[in-house]
Amino acid sequence: MARRKKIYEGKAKILYEGPEPGTIVQYFKDDATAFNAEKHDVLDGKGVLNNRLSEFFMLGLNQIGVPTHFLKRLNMREQLVRSCEIVPLEVIVRNYAAGSMAKRLGLEEGQALPRPMVEFSYKDDALGDPLVPEEYIISFGWASQQDLDDIVALALRVNDFMSGVMYGAGIKLIDFKIEFGRVYEGEFMRLIVADEISPDSCRLWDIETGAKLDKDVFRRDLGSLTDAYTEVARRLGVLPANTGAPKPTLIN
Ligand code: C5P
Repeated sequence: MARRKKIYEGKAKILYEGPEPGTIVQYFKDDATAFNAEKHDVLDGKGVLNNRLSEFFMLGLNQIGVPTHFLKRLNMREQLVRSCEIVPLEVIVRNYAAGSMAKRLGLEEGQALPRPMVEFSYKDDALGDPLVPEEYIISFGWASQQDLDDIVALALRVNDFMSGVMYGAGIKLIDFKIEFGRVYEGEFMRLIVADEISPDSCRLWDIETGAKLDKDVFRRDLGSLTDAYTEVARRLGVLPANTGAPKPTLIN
């Protein structure tokens, strides 16, 4: 059997060369990491959940005209995506103060922000993905001003879409991280949403109880991460075929 070529292995995913030029197979691992991989565990089924959830969000975005790398799901853990040149930025959108922002500014977690705020970190594990201002991004050539304007506009559309979808499932979207890639079509370059959108890269709180349904469950030892992700998937009607299938009920 021919061996496929591994292009990259990250903390939560592996990328393989796809079947056609310009495509990549994205494999979701069960590994959970936090604090720049200082904390690590393997959680049975996490990859399956994130594969499904990322498919769900990317398909929805494609449908409302926000271009993404997603092409199709291949199996439980793999999806086919468009290959693109990743912009070396983590684009973070925040609706409520939490995490590093709450810590940096001494804000209470959950405090509503005056408006959705977009910030950028430079993608570099060795440096711990430092927060960077636009000035750095443009001066160092990581993205142009036009790219940044497009990225902010797209990130805010993703925020509106994700906030609405989550609201419908009784979940508050506190913040999230996305990444963008460049694809070239003839003389033109287009930015698309790449990587993944899953509870690994969002903060999701139950609207009623405030319970956390995202990776903070793992970061802060709050219980079972896969239970939390399964709950998100269940509420969105996105459950992997072999999980949570209704059991036959005996009728007297
Ligand atoms: O830690 P911080 O508060 O800056 O994270 C903001 C959001 O970005 C959170 O939803 C977090 O899960 C996500 N994030 C991520 N990957 C990182 C850093 C943050 O997905 N490397």
